[in-house]
Amino acid sequence: MVSDVQGELDLAGLRRVYGTPGHRLFYRLVCRNARHWGWTEPGQSKWRCWRAQRRLEAVLGRKLALPPGSRVLDAGSGSGVVARQLATRFGLRVTGVDLMDFHVREANRLSARAGLAGRTAFACGDYHRLDHPDRSFDGVYSMETLCHAYDPARALAEFHRVLRPGGRLVVLGPAPLPKAELPAAQQALLEPYMDAMVLPGTRRYDSRTIGGLITGAGFRLEEELDATRYYLPTTEALYAYFRLPYAVLRRLGLSEHWLGLRSTVEMYEVRHHVAWLVHTAVRDD
Ligand SMILES: C[S@@+](CC[C@H](N)C(=O)[O-])C[C@H]1O[C@@H](n2cnc3c(N)ncnc32)[C@H](O)[C@@H]1O
Repeated sequence: MVSDVQGELDLAGLRRVYGTPGHRLFYRLVCRNARHWGWTEPGQSKWRCWRAQRRLEAVLGRKLALPPGSRVLDAGSGSGVVARQLATRFGLRVTGVDLMDFHVREANRLSARAGLAGRTAFACGDYHRLDHPDRSFDGVYSMETLCHAYDPARALAEFHRVLRPGGRLVVLGPAPLPKAELPAAQQALLEPYMDAMVLPGTRRYDSRTIGGLITGAGFRLEEELDATRYYLPTTEALYAYFRLPYAVLRRLGLSEHWLGLRSTVEMYEVRHHVAWLVHTAVRDD
């Protein structure tokens, strides 16, 4: 069990986001335990969200570009869906770290059930202060988790520390456009959303500054990809599916118990003011 030793980590807030029965049910039934967006290219259907999620995991695997057997850290591993995909499709050996004990239990249980316990392992931890020795991984990735970091620079420095020289980092996730480019109305929508979803990282970086945080942690940036156009079809499909159920829950005053639904619906309102970025970087020394 992780504790909030320095008073920086909003553990109670994150438990509220991920732990409510509504939220957990939403992710289990609707997202089949994956807690991330999807990737859709022109000509591909946006309505099959599970397929889009598998495509996004494949994008991550290709950006990691590590040979089978490589040791990889999944920072913020959730229920381990991404780790299992990388283990089966790319032959990687994945160690997941997540703050939520119930995510870790679920990840280990699902991996055992899939016969992947030997290639994936999950433990409770805060990726700002990892237990792992220096240079112990060939790769590190974070799939839609850096937005939760209370100190993204420190988290990235930890990722750098645990990577061996030549090791690779892939960071995927949303970043708001710089404040100066955000109309007041959109800012007013984003602020409460960022608080409700406990996204302090998105107050510490924006779409223009996140790359500088990565290089500031010692990495050489190989690619900064604005992938918003590949993520937007998932935003549109989820909005179409869940707009009405969410409106009903909201009317009943239950929306706080269904934060997964809230994020899928409210992301639509701010979709043109959030960039979805994929950063690929290398530890050279
Ligand atoms: C949006 S979910 C993504 C989960 C997983 N990467 C996936 O794509 O299915 C974010 C995850 O990050 C975890 N998390 C947030 N802050 C963390 C921290 N400081 N250390 C470890 N895990 C963290 C949350 O518990 C949650 O499981």
